[in-house]
Formats: sequence, structure tokens, C-alpha cells
Amino acid sequence: MSQPSAPPILDFSPFYREDSQAKADLVEQVRKSCLYNGFFQITGHRVPLELQQRVMNCTKRFFNLPLEEKMKVDKNLNSFNRGYELLRSQMLEIGTGPELKEGFYIGEEIPEDHPYFVQKRLNSGPNQWPPTVEEKEEFERTSMEYYHAVFALAKDVLAVLALTLGVDATYFNPLTDGAVATMRYLHYPAQPKDGDEKLNRGIGAHMDFGAVTLLLQDEVDGLQVLDMPTGQWLDVQPVPGAYVINLGNLFMRMANDKYKSNIHRVINKSGRERYSIPFFFSGNPDYLCKCLPNCREEGEEAKYPPITVEEVVTASYKESYGRAEKYKEEMKSKLEATPTVASVGA
Ligand code: OGA
Ligand code: NI
Repeated sequence: MSQPSAPPILDFSPFYREDSQAKADLVEQVRKSCLYNGFFQITGHRVPLELQQRVMNCTKRFFNLPLEEKMKVDKNLNSFNRGYELLRSQMLEIGTGPELKEGFYIGEEIPEDHPYFVQKRLNSGPNQWPPTVEEKEEFERTSMEYYHAVFALAKDVLAVLALTLGVDATYFNPLTDGAVATMRYLHYPAQPKDGDEKLNRGIGAHMDFGAVTLLLQDEVDGLQVLDMPTGQWLDVQPVPGAYVINLGNLFMRMANDKYKSNIHRVINKSGRERYSIPFFFSGNPDYLCKCLPNCREEGEEAKYPPITVEEVVTASYKESYGRAEKYKEEMKSKLEATPTVASVGA
């Protein structure tokens, strides 16, 4: 029996140094993690701790705003995935309720005359900045400085992923050039202690849609990864300054399922507010996702036909948001049918 093991914490700094043995070791550890469950943490990257602290401060400042201020940048007011998302908007796990998290979506600043905006490409448009957030200019500046710093790190992670496949570090440049990526500030309120743990989720069990996710957690735990061989949920311990890296479905598909995009969830039982900042790297919308080199055994076929980044990611979004809407409609009609139920426990 294999022992379940939490995602390893890897020192990424050899990637930036001229020590070929240390670099080869890093590549090998990343390769093993990708084969096992697609999760690992990294320290020794180049995103300054001081910038991470500033961006966490922005996150808290945003969620502290009154609801009516947050609703001024409601994500439903635009079609390009920018702005505020209310508590209980998303539902990723069948059999659980809508999720106990609120979010704020940020992406590359795409002006309205940019071809991506004009052609309504995947998640492309201007950011929706909250008009009354404290120190508004600093909020916008720090958010974008952080976005670009993590974008650069995502490219470096993809370079290492290329090396794990035995191809040149520049292999994914056509994926990363002109890439679409979305960052989310997330706030998980403390879950009520007597809440039904089975039904209440910060985020229900899910896999990420894109190529790779880089997550910054604050010091409150709650993220868990499913250990496939044993069926156990493993805690992903917050490590100051570290990124939790995980492969998304897009990468797994390109890797012919040889590398894993794994199931994970958040349950915030800490009794404290939890904040995190995932960065979802999708890729250039036009990049054609085909079976990657060295991902097939002798004579094995590619399992999936080629498809663009835009097609895959758009389909995944539709599916998960549709599920939350359907649930809310069902609940609404149930409550309308039996009005006494609505007042129980109110
Ligand atoms: C996600 C996710 C984990 C976290 O947003 O897809 O898995 O800790 N987030 O917020
Ligand atoms: Ni996720």
C-alpha cells in the first residue's frame, strides 16, 4: 500500500541558477508530482514576499467594503469575467450547496479597442475596479504588479514542466505568448461550527479548468487534495510565501492523462476568515492543445482530438455556473411551494 503523502514543498531556485544537478533534481521532483497527483508547493521563486503581503492587504480591503460597494463591480454586469462574485454563486460539487466564498476577478488590462475585446475572446476586457476601495490607486497598481509577477512565474513553471517532458524549456512559448490568465481574490467566511460539513463547502470538490494554477494562501488552512490511491483528503499546509501549484484539466488532456489534474476542495473549519489568491493560467486562446511529446506509450493512441484553449475553457465555465443556477432555481421553487419551510431556523 502506498502511504498518502501531502504535496511536496520544492525549492524552485535551482531553475534560476547555473547548477545543472540541482536543476535536474528539481525537474525530476516536479515530474514525479505531476505523475502522482499534479500538486506541489514551491518556495525559492522570484515573487517578493513584500509584494505578496501588499496584495493580501488589497484582498482584505476589498472584501471589507460594504456589499453595495462590491455590487457596483458585480461580475454579472460584464461578459469578460471581471469583478465581484457574491457568496454562493458557484457550485462545483454535486450534492452540496452553493459555496461559502466570495471573489473578485482580475485579469490583464484589455482596453476596449484591443482585438481580444473587439472579437469577444476568452475572458478579455478592462478590469472593473471598485470605486471606493481605500487607497484606490495603490489597490490597482499592486493588483497589476502582482498579476504580472505571477504571470512571469507561471511561464517559469511551464518551462520546468516542458523539461519534465524531455523537451526544450521554450516548448510552451506558443501557449504562454498572448496567454489569458485570471486571478481571483477569494474570501472564505468562517463556516458556522454547527454547519453540516458534508454540505457546506468553501469550494466543493473540483478540478481546475486551465493549464496550471498558482495559489497563494494566507496562514489559515482549509485546502485539501484528494489522495487518489487511498481516497483520503490531505491538508495542503499553508507555507509562508509558497505557491501551491497544480495542473488543470487542460494540461492533463494535453498529457494524454499521464499527468494528473487532481480533485481538491476547501472547507474553512478554522473559525477564522480565510483569504487566498489563485491564479489560473489558461493560455493563448488560439493555442491548439494536442497530445504532448513523450506522453504516449509505444503504440498508444492520443485519447483526445485537438482543441483550442478557448474552446476547452469556455465549455468548462458554462458547465459549473449552469449547475449553481439550476440548484438555486430548484430551491426557490421548493420554498415557494412550502412557505413554512422557509421560516424554519430563520
Ligand atoms: C480554486 C481553488 C483553493 C483555495 O479557486 O479553484 O481551488 O485555497 N482554490 O482558495
Ligand atoms: Ni481549484
